[in-house]
Parts: sequence; C-alpha cells; structure tokens
Amino acid sequence: MRVLVTPDHRTLSEEAAELIARSIRIRPGLALGLPTGNTPLGMYQELVKKHRNEGLDFSAVRTFNLDEYLGLARTRPQSYHSYMQTRFFDHINIRRENTDIPDGSPGIDVKAECDRYENAIRDAGGIDLLIVGIGTNGHIAFNEPGSSFESRTRVVSLAPGTIASARKYFASEAEVPQSAITIGIRTILEARRILLLASGQTKAKAVERALRDPVSESLPASALQLHSDVIAILDEAARG
Ligand code: F6R
Repeated sequence: MRVLVTPDHRTLSEEAAELIARSIRIRPGLALGLPTGNTPLGMYQELVKKHRNEGLDFSAVRTFNLDEYLGLARTRPQSYHSYMQTRFFDHINIRRENTDIPDGSPGIDVKAECDRYENAIRDAGGIDLLIVGIGTNGHIAFNEPGSSFESRTRVVSLAPGTIASARKYFASEAEVPQSAITIGIRTILEARRILLLASGQTKAKAVERALRDPVSESLPASALQLHSDVIAILDEAARG
C-alpha cells in the first residue's frame, strides 16, 4: 500500500481528484467505484472544476456507487442517489445510463437488485478504480465489522455508530435507515486499483489499525492490505 499524507482536507481532495483525472485521461472509458459521505465532497468539487476548467471528459466514464440506504426513496434528499446527482453528476458531462447506484427504494426486490448490481459490475468489465472512505469502526462501503471477506453485494444492518453518524442528515432518529445495500469486501478487492481516503482526527485510529493491524474480518478496512494496488491518501489529522 502506498500512503500519501497531505496537510489537510483541501489538499487531500486535490490529490484524489488529480489521480482520478489522470486515470480518466489514460483510459476515458474506465469504470469508477464511488463513495458518498463527507470525505469525498471536496474531491467531487475538484473534479467538477477540472471538467469546467480543463475539459476533463466524463462522456465515456462508467460509475458504480458503493452503497445506498435501504427503504429510502431515491428522490429523498438523504439518499445517495440524490447526493450523487446534486454533488457530482449534475455538474459534469457523464451519461446517466453510465451511472449505477444500488436501488434501495421501499418495496424493492432486494435479492434481485443485489444480483443485478454484481452482474452490472461484471458486465462492465469490473471496476478499474474504486474510491473508498472509512468509518470510525473501520467499515468500508457499508461492510461493518464482522463482514466476510468473501461478501458481495447484499443487504446489511448498519452498526449503531453508523446510524448515529447519519442522524444529523435526518429530521428524527426514527427516520434514519437501519439497513443498506452495499457492495461486498470481495467486490471491493476485485477492483483493479483502490484509493482510500481518510480525513480528520476521528479516523486516525481506524486508519492506523487498517494499515498496521493483522488482517481481520473484525476490521473490514484491513482487507485492503490483501490488495496489491492500494493508494491511501490521508490528511495529517487522520494519520494521527
Ligand atoms: C459511503 C460509504 C461509507 C463512508 C464512511 C465514511 O458511501 O461507503 O463507508 O465512506 O462511512 O463517511 P464520511 O466520509 O462521511 O466520514
């Protein structure tokens, strides 16, 4: 694993966007795995800037999001569909049919949706560059501690801490989804290259353990040690 430490979240975002832009220029039709959350917000802003100012072309790029809440309509502002649309897709020249996000809408046939998603990734030729954040409990995508390293896209129960972190985005505690559809650890490890992003002091412990502790299913992010092409971009605070 290569580790790059940047001074702060802004420089982390710039480095991540530059790495992604370079990959797109080399391979305009690449497939990206994309996270949501706070950490990648600056990276999406930088990519939008590169589209506007440098003509970075997304017209052939394919994207697969890592996860989506279950039981939340796609049109709800807290859904990852809404996040991707408003933070990124609306501002670049990506084709909507080239973007995919697990569908966690109420009433969805979840088994069929999880199978569809794995098949869509496979049919696209796999993910070339997958970007992941990390939870304070070491989750990657929504693979919470205890997730099998053989796991693929499936429904998961969110850990209490993950639900607590999401609370600020919802009007009441009762509204926070308790479960999600997430790609699995195996799905993540099959990506050709992985970019791990971590920002802020609250992530320092999880990052240190993910990079240095023995690989264990009790710490999902430690699975990244098993991959031969991972770049971690951390800001000073997350390095601890
Ligand atoms: C989101 C995702 C999560 C987040 C993680 C960190 O799509 O897969 O694993 O990356 O919870 O979230 P932030 O960046 O908000 O600290």
